[in-house]
Amino acid sequence: MTQDRITLKRPDDWHLHLRDGAMMEGVLPFSAAHFARAIIMPNLVPPVVTGADAARYRDRILDALPNGASFEPLMTLYLTEDTDPTDVKTAQESGLIKAVKLYPAGATTNSASGVQNFDRVRPVFEMMAEIGLPLCVHGEVTRSDVDIFDREAVFIDEVLEPIRRTTPGLRVVMEHITTAEAVAYASEGGPNLSATITVQHLMLDRNDMLVGGIRPHFYCLPILKRGTHCHALIKAATRGNPRFFLGTDSAPHATDTKENACGCAGCFTAPVAMSCLAEVFDEAGSLDALESFTSLNGPAFYQLPANEDQITLQRGTPIDIPKEIETDAGPVTVFNPGRPLHWRVV
Ligand code: NCD
Ligand code: ZN
Repeated sequence: MTQDRITLKRPDDWHLHLRDGAMMEGVLPFSAAHFARAIIMPNLVPPVVTGADAARYRDRILDALPNGASFEPLMTLYLTEDTDPTDVKTAQESGLIKAVKLYPAGATTNSASGVQNFDRVRPVFEMMAEIGLPLCVHGEVTRSDVDIFDREAVFIDEVLEPIRRTTPGLRVVMEHITTAEAVAYASEGGPNLSATITVQHLMLDRNDMLVGGIRPHFYCLPILKRGTHCHALIKAATRGNPRFFLGTDSAPHATDTKENACGCAGCFTAPVAMSCLAEVFDEAGSLDALESFTSLNGPAFYQLPANEDQITLQRGTPIDIPKEIETDAGPVTVFNPGRPLHWRVV
């Protein structure tokens, strides 16, 4: 008999963009509805660079939470070549931050202040290794001579492996991995290495984005890869391997900035993320591994307790995916994978 109901420990989202102001107020309720905690990306304009910035941003998020919602933002600092190791240590010791985020300069949305010269941030890496604070890595090189589809694999060889060799105790999260190469590297990296996987990279490949017309709402970074990579990600996620866990990378942009001659990168998946994941795991015959991916492996890597409360998903007629949500920063198109989603959070 096919299973039509599943109860999980409440999930967490280990990579989330909430933005700020009116956009944050519009999108936050959708994450808070299903997720207990989320690692909050610091790529605001200007970025969240210091402990003081992160404390103020956390307060704005908490102030924007709907009444009665329980959601804990886990803050991060945006690493720059001027980041002060002592500020990082103080922010970690106070419990404020749970990670530092490395964006190679120019890799993605709002990454202009990111790192160019990795030697200049070595003192921060050394400090993080000492205090056990994870480094969340956007793993793509930005050199113009490297093809966009190769940027993740080249980053592993040219940047990530040298960093991990130079600072062996550094705990690293390879974020939103998209390739078989990243799956292989994360699988073999030992207890200090883990990787997050997004919803869209488990559901789509580059054909979905480009065949029969260009679909700007499937454009994100790292860019969707060929189907063989998608299959490698599904395998990694659905086999219960503790190194892999959910980071939705839900990244809201106003619809007109994506449906644009130069469209922004990012998929707004928060409202449908759990329905999408249940569909993927169900199709793979691996519903029993869903809780590990969404609710257990992440806390274990971040050395936090799993959540006590639970959510239940039910299988039935396909859910209605809203085309857009309204925010005071404009409408935001909701991720729609183009196939029916039979699971809903009840
Ligand atoms: C993210 C954003 O919009 O902030 N976009 C994306 O395509 N994922 C940035 C990022 O995580 O790369
Ligand atoms: Zn992101």
